[in-house]
Amino acid sequence: MSSSSMPLSPLRLSLLFLLFTFHTTTTTAQGLINTTCKTCSQNNPNIKFNFCTTSLQSSPASQCAGDLHTLGTISIKLIQSNVTDTNCFIKQLIKNKKLVNPFIQRCLEDCFDLYSDAIPSVEQAMENYDLERFVDANVELSSVMDAATTCEDGFKEKRGVVSPLMKRNGDTFQLSAMALSIMGMLQTGSQY
Ligand SMILES: *[C@@H]1O[C@H](CO)[C@@H](O)[C@H](O)[C@H]1NC(C)=O
Ligand SMILES: *[C@@H]1O[C@H](CO)[C@@H](O)[C@H](O)[C@H]1NC(C)=O
Repeated sequence: MSSSSMPLSPLRLSLLFLLFTFHTTTTTAQGLINTTCKTCSQNNPNIKFNFCTTSLQSSPASQCAGDLHTLGTISIKLIQSNVTDTNCFIKQLIKNKKLVNPFIQRCLEDCFDLYSDAIPSVEQAMENYDLERFVDANVELSSVMDAATTCEDGFKEKRGVVSPLMKRNGDTFQLSAMALSIMGMLQTGSQY
C-alpha cells in the first residue's frame, strides 16, 4: 500500500505536527547557539567556537532555548556544576597525599580555597543575572575567572610541574568568558 492512499487521520496529523514543531524548535535553538558562539569567539579569542557550541548543546534545556537570556542562564549553570565538581575533585587529590609532592600539595590547597570561594560567587552571579543586575553578575563571574587563572598560575611557579587541574581551570575560564560575553551582548543588544 502506498502511503498516499492512507488517509491522514487526526492522529497522524498531530504526530506530523509534533515532529515538525520539534524539528523547527531544535533548528532554531541550534541556530541561536551558532550565532551566539560565533559572536562570542569573535569578541574574545579565548572562547573557542566548538567548545562554546558543544557546552551549550550539552544542556538538555538548550534544545528549547529561544533567546539569548536563556543561553546565558545555561552558561552560568555550567560554570556552577564545573566549579562544584572541581572543588570536590581537588579535595580528593589533597586527601591522596602520596600522589603529590609538597609543592603540588600547597598549590592544591590554594586552589581548594579559590574554588571554595568561587562556589558562592557563581550562586550570587546567577541571582544577579536573573534580576538583570549585569554589572554585579559581571564582577562575580570575573572573580571566578580570576580564581581559575590564579589556581593554574600557582603550578607554573615551579619548572617541570604539570598542573593536574589544567583542563578544569581552562574549562571554567572559558565558560566564564562565555557568560560574560553573553551578558555584554544582552546589555548592548548587539547580538546580531
Ligand atoms: C550550526 O553549526 C553547525 C556547525 O558549524 C552546522 O553543522 C549546523 O548546520 C548549524 N546549524 C544551524 C541551524 O545553523
Ligand atoms: C566543565 O564544563 C565543560 C563544558 O561544558 C565540560 O566539557 C566539562 O566536562 C565540565 N567539567 C566538569 C568537571 O564538570
